[in-house]
Amino acid sequence: MKDPTAIPELRSIYDMLSLKGKTAFVTGGAGGIGSSSAAGLAEIGANVMLMDIPSQEETLKKYARQIADRYGTKASYVVGDVADEKGVADMINKTVAELGSLDVCFSNAGVGLAPDNPSQMPLDIWQKMLDINLTGMFLVGRTAALKMLELKNKSGSLIFTASMSGHIINKNQSGKDHHHMAAYAATKSATVALAKSFAMNYAYANIRANSISPGLMHSGLHKKFGMDLSTFPETGYDAIPLDRWGTMDEIIGLIAYLASDMSSYVTGADIIIDGGYTVW
Ligand SMILES: NC(=O)c1ccc[n+]([C@@H]2O[C@H](COP(=O)([O-])OP(=O)(O)OC[C@H]3O[C@@H](n4cnc5c(N)ncnc54)[C@H](O)[C@@H]3O)[C@@H](O)[C@H]2O)c1
Repeated sequence: MKDPTAIPELRSIYDMLSLKGKTAFVTGGAGGIGSSSAAGLAEIGANVMLMDIPSQEETLKKYARQIADRYGTKASYVVGDVADEKGVADMINKTVAELGSLDVCFSNAGVGLAPDNPSQMPLDIWQKMLDINLTGMFLVGRTAALKMLELKNKSGSLIFTASMSGHIINKNQSGKDHHHMAAYAATKSATVALAKSFAMNYAYANIRANSISPGLMHSGLHKKFGMDLSTFPETGYDAIPLDRWGTMDEIIGLIAYLASDMSSYVTGADIIIDGGYTVW
């Protein structure tokens, strides 16, 4: 019998990281975290399908072309809405038809809408955030898991983008008192629990499910909260022990880790990547 602790028996870290011959589906693929992560997954060998809303089609087309040119893997795109059940099924089917398999699903699309505080938030904004940030996570995760089961894959990885706002309530940045985010925090907290539930439901088939909880990362998201990116990063530094916002380079290592065999014993975990924000 082999000795599992013998150094010559250990697998190469580079082999474990490789996604050669595998396919990844990435939602929010026209945004900062989605597009960077798709590029990172392609760099370690995956064929990638980028997904975003129809108004982002030109951006998706450009990113898919850049990824294919740069990494030599297949890269394509689909448009739709993560909250549309049939649309999600069609997009997952198209991914398998075009790219040949489905091994990694990065359910990452999400929005922050304003106003997002209990006193002022119109119910339609609350509902829209639940639809995209939570129902969307559920539909994308479930559809991908069922497709992986149907394909009889030996393994699969589902990754959900939650947020540090799923663990804490962010301090109000608008200068107004008593206006802290409600819907965003509620959907992100629920996403952490949803990922754990998926992990338990599909562990028997070696389909792993984990969430990531980023802190303040430089991407497209904060503009949509109505924040002024030219000033906000300065004021946000004080709360971050590492004294700066995170970059897209710093997200892709985490996604590569969770997507690949590097994390083959990790399921039901939530990994916080926030420069220490939630520690103090
Ligand atoms: N940037 C951060 O600091 C940060 C921190 C924590 C969590 N997050 C989360 O990371 C994820 C990615 O955000 P980002 O920072 O890249 O922002 P982003 O705005 O650059 O990207 C989000 C993308 O999601 C897409 N999208 C919106 N509604 C959609 C829908 N119904 N169907 C499909 N796609 C849709 C948008 O068009 C956009 O391209 C989000 O879930 C966000 O909540 C971001």
